Amino acid sequence: MAPSTETALFVVRERAAGERRVAATPDSVRRQVATGRRVLVEHEAGAAAGFPDEAYADAGADLVDATDAGGATLVARVAPPSLEDVNRLSPGTVLLTFLAPHRNLEVVRALADGGISTLAMDLVPRITRAQAIDALSSQANVSGYRAVIEAAHALDKYFPLFMTAAGTIRPARIVVLGAGVAGLQAVATAKRLGAVIHVSDIREAAREEVASLGGTFIEVPDIEDATGEGGYAKEVGAGFLERQRAVLTEFLGQANAAITTAQIPGRPAPELITREMVEAMQPGSVVIDLAAADGGNCALTEVGRIVEHHGVRIIPGNDFPSAMAGESSALYARNVAAFCDLLIDDEQRLQLDLDDEVVAGSLVTHEGTVTAPKIAELLGGKDA
Ligand code: NAI
Repeated sequence: MAPSTETALFVVRERAAGERRVAATPDSVRRQVATGRRVLVEHEAGAAAGFPDEAYADAGADLVDATDAGGATLVARVAPPSLEDVNRLSPGTVLLTFLAPHRNLEVVRALADGGISTLAMDLVPRITRAQAIDALSSQANVSGYRAVIEAAHALDKYFPLFMTAAGTIRPARIVVLGAGVAGLQAVATAKRLGAVIHVSDIREAAREEVASLGGTFIEVPDIEDATGEGGYAKEVGAGFLERQRAVLTEFLGQANAAITTAQIPGRPAPELITREMVEAMQPGSVVIDLAAADGGNCALTEVGRIVEHHGVRIIPGNDFPSAMAGESSALYARNVAAFCDLLIDDEQRLQLDLDDEVVAGSLVTHEGTVTAPKIAELLGGKDA
C-alpha cells in the first residue's frame, strides 16, 4: 500500500448496547499526540468509561462528531462494528477493532465491499513481539478477575478458611474450566481470597501453570494433549469430552462456584456442563460462564440473563470487561496505541506491511477482498 502523508486516528463512540469501553484514553491520546500524531475523538466517546471530553481535549485530541471524521485514515473502536457503523467508513480506511469475524460474516463482507482494511484485535498472533498488542489477553485478564469477584458476591459464603471460637468455616471450593489467560487469572484471584481451586484444561502446558498458582489440576483418564496452532487448544473428540464430563460431575457436585472459560478459536465453546450436571450441583452454587458469547460452556447459559435452575444460578460473563470499563479501556487503549506504533512510521505515514506477521495475521479485509483464509472459506471461498 502506498504510504499516505498524514495519519489522523479517529476514536469512535461505541454504539453497541451495553458496551461502555473506549479505544483510547486521555493517557493514550497524550502519548500518541507527543509522537506527532493527530487524534480525533468522537464527542462522548469515553463518557461511559469515566473519561470526559475535556480530559481528551487537555491531552491534545480534537473532539469531533462522527460526520467530521472524514479525514481520518485510521479508525479505532472496541466492539465489532454494525452494518451501520461500516457505512460510515470511507474506502481506504484502516480499521482496528475486535471483530469476532466467524460470528459476524455479514459485517466482514460489508467491510470488504466498502474497501476497508480491517485489522482484527482478536486475531493478533500470540507471539512475543506482539505482546503489547494482545487485546485478547488484556481483556481476558479483566474477565478472569471479575468472574471471581462476581462469584464471591453471588455466594452467601466466605472464600477463606476461618478458624474462630464459634467454629471452623471451610474455604469455598471453586472449579475453573479452561486455564488460558482468563482461567489462570481466576485461579490467581480465587487463591488470593483463600479458596480451594480445582482446574481442568486439555493443554499439557496448563498443568504446570495451574500448579504454580496454587490450583490442583483435574486428571481425566486417557487425557490427550490438545495443544493446537499458536498455543491454542484444538477440538477434542466426543469420547474424551464424555470422560471429562464424568470426572467434572464429581468436582462440580462439591463446588460452590464454577468459572468456565474453555474456548476453541473459531468454534463454538465446548459444552462441559450439561443440564444434568447442573442438577447434580449444590443448591446455592453458581456457574460464571465467560464463554457465553460463543455459546457457553454450560448448556443453560443465556447471554444477557441470569438463569436459575435447581437452585443453581448460571451467570453469563461476556460483558465483564465492559463492567470494568475504565480499567479495560486503559489496557485496550495501550494495545491499540502499540498497534498504531507498528503501522505508523516516524514521518507519521501509515503503512500496511503485509509481510509483517502481526499485520498479515490480523488482517481480515483489504482492497475489496476477505484476506483471512478461514473467514473467506466461511463466506463461500470467493476471496483469499
Ligand atoms: P482461549 O480463550 O482460546 O481458551 C481458554 C482455555 O480453554 C485454553 O486454555 C484451552 O486450552 C481451554 N480449553 C479448550 N477446550 C477445553 C476443554 N474441553 N476442557 C478444558 N479446557 C479447555 O485461550 P486463551 O486464554 O486466549 O489462550 C490460550 C493459550 O494461548 C495460553 O495459555 C497460551 O498458551 C497462549 N497465549 C500465548 C501468548 C503469547 O505468547 N504472547 C499470550 C496469550 C496466550
